[in-house]
Amino acid sequence: MKNEYIPHPAIVDSIRSESFDTKTFKVVFEDEKLAASFSYKPGQFAQLSLLGIGEAPISVTSSPCSRGFLEFTIRAVGRLTRAMHQLKPADKIYVRGPYGNCFPFEEVKGKDLYFVAGGIGLPPLRSLINSVFDKREEFGRIKVLYGAKTPDELCFKEELKRWQQITDTEVLLTVDKADKDWEGNVGVVTTLWNKVDITSSGGVAYVCGPPIMIRFVVKKLIDTGFEDGNIYITLERYMKCGIGKCGHCNIGAKFVCIDGPVFSCGQLKELHQKA
Ligand SMILES: Cc1cc2nc3c(=O)[nH]c(=O)nc-3n(C[C@H](O)[C@H](O)[C@H](O)COP(=O)(O)OP(=O)(O)OC[C@H]3O[C@@H](n4cnc5c(N)ncnc54)[C@H](O)[C@@H]3O)c2cc1C
Ligand code: FES
Repeated sequence: MKNEYIPHPAIVDSIRSESFDTKTFKVVFEDEKLAASFSYKPGQFAQLSLLGIGEAPISVTSSPCSRGFLEFTIRAVGRLTRAMHQLKPADKIYVRGPYGNCFPFEEVKGKDLYFVAGGIGLPPLRSLINSVFDKREEFGRIKVLYGAKTPDELCFKEELKRWQQITDTEVLLTVDKADKDWEGNVGVVTTLWNKVDITSSGGVAYVCGPPIMIRFVVKKLIDTGFEDGNIYITLERYMKCGIGKCGHCNIGAKFVCIDGPVFSCGQLKELHQKA
């Protein structure tokens, strides 16, 4: 019988430093058949572990279109993630998943898409953004609004430049505190509203970042006229099983690990009313 809790060994193929505390790991399953067949959707996460240290949910940041490997962007915040930052290429890491629901993709074809991220909130959205760019002509205008505390803390710096070159796509960056080389906007991500044409009509917004940033961005989107059913956010909760068994991640009657982590603001409002 299949045991859902047994993780699959994978090898760290390469590691890219994003900032002083954040790295992106490219990993490949040891089992070649699994590496070739493993599929997931943008917004899903995996439970990553190191033997004898622990396990934590981490969003898959690679696009499902890039087959044969997975990428995870990890900020060193605690025991496990700090140990992961000590890994070197060819070291072993363990993966189970993919878990959770995903961002709406097919349903938003033809619409204008707004991606609003703060700090380490860009990694989960990156999977979706690159999937959208893979089928660029099937979507409307795309705007990416991304903020970090300092220029160093912006993830995927080279990729952000590439996205800026894509047809009908705007990428706007901001930092809370500039350094001497920073020529862009300074201020929280909502200050970008003055620099970009955001219209709610038929648009869909995806928001990912720290809770305080999500709160202010959602308010700004609602004030701009977005319906709460067209605003999607991802929630972080402490998780253990990742598969709806342990009850660690519930909000009211829902489990973030299986009913989320992606929720529309409309769904969340309903959940909090019922809770
Ligand atoms: C769906 C999902 C996707 C995620 N994706 C990513 C990702 O892509 N990249 C990423 O870097 N992280 C991601 N996270 C967050 C990551 O899983 C956590 O930060 C995880 O706890 C790190 O494990 P750790 O052992 O290194 O740190 P921990 O020891 O768990 O500590 C992490 C931080 O949380 C605090 N903390 C610990 N326990 C609690 C508690 N019970 N209540 C409140 N605070 C506590 C600690 O003080 C510390 O500041 C995701 C989380 C979820 C739920
Ligand atoms: S993490 Fe166990 S029920 Fe969600």
